[in-house]
Amino acid sequence: MVATSQTTGEGWSSRSAFILAAVGAAVGLGNIWRFPTLAGESGGGAFVIFYIACVFLLGLPLVLAEIFIGRVGQTDAVGSIRKVSQESKASPSWSIFGGVGAIAAFLIVSFYSVVAGWVLYYAGVMGLDLIQAIGAGEPFRGALAGESQEQIQQRLGDMFASPSLLLAMHFAFMGLTLYIVARGVSSGIEKAATYLMPMFFVLLVGLVIYGAIEGEIGDAMAFLFTPDWSKLTPQVMNSALGQALFSLSLGVAGLITYGSYIKEKSNLGSTAAMIAVADTSVALLAGLMIFPIVFAVGLDPAAGPTLVFQTLPFAFQTMPGGALFGFLFFVLILVAAVTSSISLLEVPTAWGIGERGWSRTKSALIFGIGAFLIGILCLLGYNVLSDVRPLGFWSLFENTDILDTVDGFTGKVMLPVGALLTSLFIGWKADTNLLRTTTGLSPLAFNIWRFLLAWLCPLAVTVILVTGLFPSIL
Ligand code: PHE
Repeated sequence: MVATSQTTGEGWSSRSAFILAAVGAAVGLGNIWRFPTLAGESGGGAFVIFYIACVFLLGLPLVLAEIFIGRVGQTDAVGSIRKVSQESKASPSWSIFGGVGAIAAFLIVSFYSVVAGWVLYYAGVMGLDLIQAIGAGEPFRGALAGESQEQIQQRLGDMFASPSLLLAMHFAFMGLTLYIVARGVSSGIEKAATYLMPMFFVLLVGLVIYGAIEGEIGDAMAFLFTPDWSKLTPQVMNSALGQALFSLSLGVAGLITYGSYIKEKSNLGSTAAMIAVADTSVALLAGLMIFPIVFAVGLDPAAGPTLVFQTLPFAFQTMPGGALFGFLFFVLILVAAVTSSISLLEVPTAWGIGERGWSRTKSALIFGIGAFLIGILCLLGYNVLSDVRPLGFWSLFENTDILDTVDGFTGKVMLPVGALLTSLFIGWKADTNLLRTTTGLSPLAFNIWRFLLAWLCPLAVTVILVTGLFPSIL
């Protein structure tokens, strides 16, 4: 590793551009796909409430911590942590957690692109359906007219059975991600977020209202918000913590990297709060969009990663204008996924630029292609390699296919470890004056923040991590 890092030399054009890009990074498949999947598998209410507590007590302080590191460092995660260490007279070895984060981001983007590929396929299916509807002179009809429930379900199974289809979609999505990252921060990433995120939000709210009218909103509310505390096992707590970190893009140094592109002085505290509130609202709205349909059509909430794809087509089928809204909605999930996947690929890419001196294009290509190859293994896990259990020797991952293993290992192990090290570093090692002046927090807010990072985060994360991973010690 070279001793000094180069700055990546880029910047956001304004504070609001940073907020949009950071919200864009936070809001993604984590909210629309991963949150409902885990909430369903974990039995609902207790998971959701514990997740919300994790977001605000552990996640929010960490969001601010990561943005702070990037703001001070002005370069890739490893170099930024090293800079904060220097200014705080702490050991430069702390920068290792930036490297661990970059590896986690690299692994996450590999399966993220596969799942986004499913969304892409559904966007394509709905797009063709919309064209047919328009051709038939019925542009406002429901989607997939005339298909039975079985046929709609069957499409999902057919998709998983076809490695070439999954591969083509994964290729297209990763290619797009790579292209945007290679073009750089303000020209690529910013533009995408500014126009499309607001549209996504409007459509999401519209679908929640539709679900409230047509679906079983009462059952969904009860499922999501009535806690049955007996369901809050150490494993459920571990996945709720992992989900809070995943959804806020924490523990992979993503916000360090994005924070490094902030140039001017700005109020980092309120920025962090906006990110946390926006992200959590979208996750809860996604739950309120999906579960009314789950209960209305009698699906199993614990269906797992396929849940979202099994439910949404039904809503669009019965909904007036469903062909149109269905197409739009999958396109917007794709947009949300792209603004997140670019932030993931950006972490190792910035590392290559800052620590290795590679050009942006070279760095993006190396990590983009590497993640693409790992993604291929993930998608083969749904067909050719469906018997493979990569961490099958570990009881926690005994029955877990390749994609779920990469997802579970990064989410349940790597992100909490990243979060733990971040909180220890900022809570104990970083220079207090530097923290005060850079974050611009009021004295009270500052003390609460530092306390949460120094005490609550390390203790809670350690307990949740250890008991979640090794339940036998309890
Ligand atoms: N937060 C993103 C999502 O919810 C995923 C992500 C994780 C993005 C880590 C960047 C870093 O989809």
